[in-house]
Amino acid sequence: MKVLVVGKGGREHALVWKLAQSPRIEKLYAAPGNPGMAPLAELVPIRVDTPASEREKLNAEIHKLADWALNEGIDLTVVGPDDALAGGIVDHFQQRGLKIFGPTEAAARLESSKAFSKDLMQRIGVPTAVHRSFTDADSAVAYIRQQGAPIVVKASGLAAGKGAVVCMELEEAISTAQDMLAGNAFGSAGSEIVVEEFMQGEEVSLFALCDGSHFLTLAPAQDHKAIFDGDKGPNTGGMGAYAPAPALTSELHRETEERIIAPVLAEMQRMGCPFTGVLYCGLMLTGEGPKVVEFNARFGDPECQILLPLIQNDLLDIIEAACDGQLDRIQIDNAPRACVCVVMAAEGYPESYPKGMAISGLESLTGETEQVVFHAGTELRDEQLVTNGGRVLGVTALGDTIHDAVANAYKAVDAIHFDGAYYRRDIAHKALSRP
Ligand code: AMP
Ligand code: GLY
Repeated sequence: MKVLVVGKGGREHALVWKLAQSPRIEKLYAAPGNPGMAPLAELVPIRVDTPASEREKLNAEIHKLADWALNEGIDLTVVGPDDALAGGIVDHFQQRGLKIFGPTEAAARLESSKAFSKDLMQRIGVPTAVHRSFTDADSAVAYIRQQGAPIVVKASGLAAGKGAVVCMELEEAISTAQDMLAGNAFGSAGSEIVVEEFMQGEEVSLFALCDGSHFLTLAPAQDHKAIFDGDKGPNTGGMGAYAPAPALTSELHRETEERIIAPVLAEMQRMGCPFTGVLYCGLMLTGEGPKVVEFNARFGDPECQILLPLIQNDLLDIIEAACDGQLDRIQIDNAPRACVCVVMAAEGYPESYPKGMAISGLESLTGETEQVVFHAGTELRDEQLVTNGGRVLGVTALGDTIHDAVANAYKAVDAIHFDGAYYRRDIAHKALSRP
């Protein structure tokens, strides 16, 4: 089979790496891909990465990629990024007879519209923070005053993971809501906002591979969104992740499947927009059980980098079964091991950062079976690998225990160098410090 992976980050490198292990793959392509994928996949210089808000431009990119895929005889396409999904890449490919794994635009609303997903959860009684949606500032402010702080204000649309503001003070909540609705923060993504109850607890993510009616969950994962150790500082796209996260016990895992994932998939089906693809459940483990913080309609980055190495199945088998509505025929075989990813970032990220720093040391890791380095923001310049993004590398390692996986990951980090390399030293600390 000829398989195309859409995207260019660490998540997509992990997808390419895992798919490359399938004996049924004749050739892999990545659009646009990155230098880390080049030994495994042909890089296709077509980008589908315009924000979903710039509809026409994104549409043109999707058309161009579909033209290419038809011409090349691509048998299956796997999509990484949320913008392409929210922009209808799956609908378009399907209309043109191309097989593709991911949710349709209507199904991707579970991520692209918080108002949609919150209303759905409320309607069918899925546990989540109590909320109200607003498009008008005066009503939002009145509601915030009535509820009091702490309270959470969110842009409804896609905002690169930065659209949620946890407000400990009333005044902050009011000004955040006013700013978002005035279009000052997050542009059109903030033309509708969700104001919701503050939930206390530990956060964990559960990923479900879905075929519209059936689903299979992966190992529970925890990512590290804040830039500094101890979860301090501004949020990033994710500075590291590990699995399995012991916080989601097997009992809570089952509860999440039964009370959250199954009813949401059934409701999506009932609404005529069945969800096929990866349902990312961001959960808060509250005193009253797991509650949904948010849904995403794709793999997490860097969660994908730690979940795929644990899966012993052929990923192609799983994805094909999902596209064909036959996930009930598959069982996920997870290695009884742990996996940890430490993100090496450019100094200054998530604010401004330099690019073009030479990266060295990766050669010393080739041939290692416990460690793999996924590229996120890298580029080849005159045959020298250099940094080209905020998150540069996802240094990933397996181990028999989380402790071993952490040690293996940091051993690999120590072997890699670029000027200004920054990474957290405490990835998986929550698991290691459990009583
Ligand atoms: P979101 O963009 O909805 O995933 O939110 C980003 C982050 O804000 C989450 O990972 C949580 O840490 C925090 N957060 C979001 N909603 C809530 C809530 N209702 N209560 C407490 N923290 C929240
Ligand atoms: N790691 C968080 C995300 O992918 O949204």
